[in-house]
Amino acid sequence: MVHNQQAAALDNLFTEQRSFPPPPGFAEQANVTAEAYQRADDDRDAFWAEQANRLDWQTPFSQVLDWSDAPHAKWFADGKLNASVNCVDRHVDAGHGDQVAIHWEGEPGDSRTITYAELKDEVSKAANAFTELGLKAGDRVAIYLPMIPEAIVSMLACARLGLTHSVVFGGFSSEALRSRIADAEAKLVITADGQFRRGKAMPLKRAVDEAVAGDDSPVENVLVVRRTGIDADFGDKDIWWHELVQRQSAEHTPEFFDAEHPLFILYTSGTTGKPKGILHTTGGYLTQVAYTHDAVFDHKAGQDVYWCTADIGWVTGHSYIVYGPLANRATQVVYEGTPNSPHEGRHWEIVDKYKVSIYYTAPTTIRTFMKWGKDIPARYQLDSLRVLGSVGEPINPEAWMWYRENIGRGRCPIVDTWWQTETGGIMISPLPGVTDTKPGSAMRPLPGISAAIVGDDGQPVGNGGGGYLVLDKPWPAMLRTIWGDDERFRDTYWSRFAEQGYYFAGDGAKYDDDGAIWLLGRVDDVMNVSGHRISTTEVESALVSHPSVAEAAVVGATDETTGQGIVAFVILRGEAAAAAKEGDDDAAAAHITELRNHVAKEIGPIAKPRQIMVVAELPKTRSGKIMRRLLRDVAEQRPVGDVTTLADSTVMDQISSGLTSGG
Ligand code: WT7
Repeated sequence: MVHNQQAAALDNLFTEQRSFPPPPGFAEQANVTAEAYQRADDDRDAFWAEQANRLDWQTPFSQVLDWSDAPHAKWFADGKLNASVNCVDRHVDAGHGDQVAIHWEGEPGDSRTITYAELKDEVSKAANAFTELGLKAGDRVAIYLPMIPEAIVSMLACARLGLTHSVVFGGFSSEALRSRIADAEAKLVITADGQFRRGKAMPLKRAVDEAVAGDDSPVENVLVVRRTGIDADFGDKDIWWHELVQRQSAEHTPEFFDAEHPLFILYTSGTTGKPKGILHTTGGYLTQVAYTHDAVFDHKAGQDVYWCTADIGWVTGHSYIVYGPLANRATQVVYEGTPNSPHEGRHWEIVDKYKVSIYYTAPTTIRTFMKWGKDIPARYQLDSLRVLGSVGEPINPEAWMWYRENIGRGRCPIVDTWWQTETGGIMISPLPGVTDTKPGSAMRPLPGISAAIVGDDGQPVGNGGGGYLVLDKPWPAMLRTIWGDDERFRDTYWSRFAEQGYYFAGDGAKYDDDGAIWLLGRVDDVMNVSGHRISTTEVESALVSHPSVAEAAVVGATDETTGQGIVAFVILRGEAAAAAKEGDDDAAAAHITELRNHVAKEIGPIAKPRQIMVVAELPKTRSGKIMRRLLRDVAEQRPVGDVTTLADSTVMDQISSGLTSGG
């Protein structure tokens, strides 16, 4: 019984008791108030119809949800709209053409300001260019670009023409790009000559050359933006963006598409090696991202300055840089570079420069800021900030509190937003004007969204219980299928609780005694030690609550006696880090003993790591996710597996060669 075991283990794991009400005055001006929960529950269809009517429909819809072909949903199916018109034209038509859409900040310090009127011209020109290349509604386009305005323009121009974009993160290899191009049969690739990374111009077009080489490539053209001036070889397929796009007319009359017309494919990793092409469609997706961007961030068009630090290569960038904010007429910051280029205060400098009021980032970034020290943000005003967001992984209470105190200065609500590439938009999150937040909890499903925590048998657990997170009712931005593999779509998400018809999210979660939801990480990362279920996240959280730990990653390693044993990898800071660097073995061993005891004290003796290894870096993907699979290989003394998706592929060598372990 999953929930009994898990509940037993979790009883003493969560000792977090703090709770923070919305700041005074926030509730009064909030976009969404508490009544929305009840209203949405009373009539879900009416609630979502109301949200859909935030958008401009060329043909209004008559039916909200068609679930007759479950698990394939149709939302607003007989309505027609154009996503790019909703994100751009309608704001210009309403007289907001001079409002800034994008404050773009390049890594080397160059910048561009783009108004909605200018964005409309750029998107129209790009749409005319894509048409000149012979592309037709339904064709697929791969976008492999750094965080430059042309990336956003390209996505919107695709949407305008009914082309389905597949954005591939600019940090992925040529092989990854090739397999994604092949799977989607993309006819066009949009790329740049190069990209700036930590002050250096790195080639990008070269990877495309490799990815489209050979006679069997479906790619007919490669459109190249000049960003760095780095050398790029040009062949028959290649065209410069500035030569093709800039000479186009800025007039473009849009067509309108069915609500269920495919908008984009985004590849995400699953449990097997082959990435899954998650398919999203137009009307439901745009409805949910616009609604959630408004409700969760309390966004006020024409007043707020919004900044989401994600890359458009990930779903966060699709939903909360491109489609949600632009549908809501946001003025937003888009930043090309890394947080420490050219110095560790770059984000805070940008916040002050543009008076950013809503800031949305990932826990891994927050923990990096913690490592750099609170003195850095302390040098900046940060007084424009009013809402802080977190996304991508469970946020440990220490990072949450650090974020609240050092960035929000105790004044800004934090919205910890749970969702996935597959859900398309935010699902579980506090509402900043309504919810009393708890450090580390995503709290409860948004109005209109339904989720449950169930045991192995699919039965809901009660307050205090833990199990699997499921989504028990369809939602507008849900994935429609896996591109080219509907069977995998059914298997991955709908077979685990087929009887109940629930979507299986793959995350463990628990309710606390008040019914708030705490995400516990992927269920494949939940360990089972002597019959006790312990989340890797829990142990990591305990470790990083110790003053000498900067970051921690925990894996369950196969253990003859206990089933799994807990193995922790830690990056030390302060004195402990210095001792480890100097090779002071006695001091290092003492620190490790102390850390094991600390975890035992924080969580309970069952959670005491079997082994703690001190490392200089953790293996992370380019989106910042720790690759526990590789750490498990080290912990289980196996040869290390495929490292190609690591941001820095040398990290595993460093770890394997420089281990200090004990316990
Ligand atoms: C997985 C989805 C959501 C956009 C970025 C990641 C984890 C995401 C949270 C959160 C705890 C979270 C889950 C989820 N996750 N947000 N607020 N608290 N866990 O999208 O790459 O599709 O990953 O990220 O494990 O299943 P993704």
